[in-house]
Order: sequence, then C-alpha cells, then structure tokens
Amino acid sequence: MISKISFVKKLIFILKKILIVIWFIFRPKYYEHFFYLIKRKFLLNQDTTINRDKAYKWASIKAIPYTEALEKLGLNGEVRELDNEIILEGQKLEAKSSVKMGGPGHIHLLYNCVKLLKAKKVIETGVAYGWSSLAILKALSEGSDGILYSVDMPYPTKKNENDVGIVVPEYLRKNWFLIRKPDRPGIIDAIDSIGGQIDLCHYDSDKSWWGRHYAYPILWKSLNSKGLFVSDDIQDNLYFSEFVEKHSFNFAVVEFDGKFIGLIRKL
Ligand SMILES: C[S@@+](CC[C@H](N)C(=O)[O-])C[C@H]1O[C@@H](n2cnc3c(N)ncnc32)[C@H](O)[C@@H]1O
Repeated sequence: MISKISFVKKLIFILKKILIVIWFIFRPKYYEHFFYLIKRKFLLNQDTTINRDKAYKWASIKAIPYTEALEKLGLNGEVRELDNEIILEGQKLEAKSSVKMGGPGHIHLLYNCVKLLKAKKVIETGVAYGWSSLAILKALSEGSDGILYSVDMPYPTKKNENDVGIVVPEYLRKNWFLIRKPDRPGIIDAIDSIGGQIDLCHYDSDKSWWGRHYAYPILWKSLNSKGLFVSDDIQDNLYFSEFVEKHSFNFAVVEFDGKFIGLIRKL
C-alpha cells in the first residue's frame, strides 16, 4: 500500500517536472533562466539543510529590532508604519486573484527604508502580489516622487502572469516599471533602464545560494554610495553572511515572521 502511494507521488512529481519543462520550451524569453536551472543541477549544492541551519542560527544571533537596525545603518528620522488603509485596499485587490503567490514580507521596514533614505531610484526583484512594490511606491509617492523598476518572472505553470503586482492601486503605478523577465537578464535590463546607479535595492526573487551569487554583486555594484541593499529570507543559505563578512560591510539583520531580512548600507 505504502509503495503504491509513494509510486503515485513520484509519478505526480515527474509529471509536474515535465509540465515545467514544456512551459519553458514555449517561452524563449526564459531560456537563459532555464539553462541556468539545468546548470545549477551540476553545481555544488549550497542550499543543504546543514547550511540552512547554520544560516538560520547566524541570522537569529545577529537579529535586532527593526528601528534599531535603521539607526545602526544611519537611517535616522521619524519611523511610521505604512498606512492601514492602503493595506486594506491591497487585501481587497489580492482577494480578486485566483492564484496563490508569495505573501508580504516586512512592508513597514521597507516603507521606512525608502522614506528615511530619501531614495529616488529603486530596483526590486520578485513581485508576486506586489506587497513590497506597494510599500516602495507609497514611500516614493510621499517623498521624492522617485521611480521603481521591478523584475519578476511568473511561477512556471501557475498562470499568474496577469495577477503579478495586483495589490498596487492604479494611482501608484505612474512611476512603476515592471520588467517581466527572470533575474537573468532582467536585473541588467533594470539597471540599464534606470540609468546605471540606484539608491535602494530589494532582493526577493531567486533565493538560492547560486541565485544570490549571481545577483548580489551586480546589484551591489549599481548602488550609489550611501545606498541600501535589502534582502529577504537570508536564513535560506549562507550567501548573505558570507557576502557581508567577506567585505566587512555595515549590515543589520531583522526578524519577521520567523524569517530574516538582511540590510547592508554602502559607505
Ligand atoms: C516571494 S515572491 C515576492 C514577494 C514580494 N516581494 C512581496 O513582498 O510581495 C517571489 C517572486 O519572485 C519571482 N521569482 C522567483 N525566481 C525568480 C527569478 N529567477 N527571476 C525573477 N523572478 C523570480 C516569483 O515568481 C515570485 O513572483
């Protein structure tokens, strides 16, 4: 009986993989990403349970309250939560989506980062419903009237293309440019389109060690001096800790919902 169940489970797993391969075959703009996924199978797996446990432990020891993290990074000023009305409005818009996607991260932290930094040019990777985009765009609309470039590829086979960014209300979209591509080549496209240098980056797309290994250095290089790099889910692997320790960066870690966000300020 057990072996029958495990056989069916295996079959479903293989069928899902085949559907994903077919999904990629019919979408040439995702080929670069598809080949990277194949290549990753042959690279050393850095996302092991042991590494995840180490990363989690490292992040828990370093974590501090978010207001302290802002101060540590030299982001001083009044800290305010993102308006509850806009969150309720977003929740109503999200309810219209029939697809389940990644939920919101620490939107209040992100909102304050943009405001206190007085960011004008922002890039984010990973949109899903668009909660982080909403927080960034709201902060930009209240301050510098800056711009946001977001890079996102949909979940393969989920048919969620039309719902990406659904929580962002119409009146915040005028300064928003959504690049519907994978990180490769979407991040380079976003940096080129924004004019080379950015004030803030929020990373929330390919969170594998190899994904970060590709994206972090490119985004870091494009940050202005005094710019801010924010990355979600740093407990997934050791990339963030290795990155900050190798370069002795000025960083902070904040816990949210049992996960960790890493922030680095460029000097
Ligand atoms: C956790 S969700 C983003 C949540 C969003 N930042 C928020 O706070 O609401 C991750 C998103 O990144 C996208 N994604 C995953 N891997 C990607 C990649 N390699 N390139 C671009 N987007 C990717 C997923 O399809 C999904 O839309």
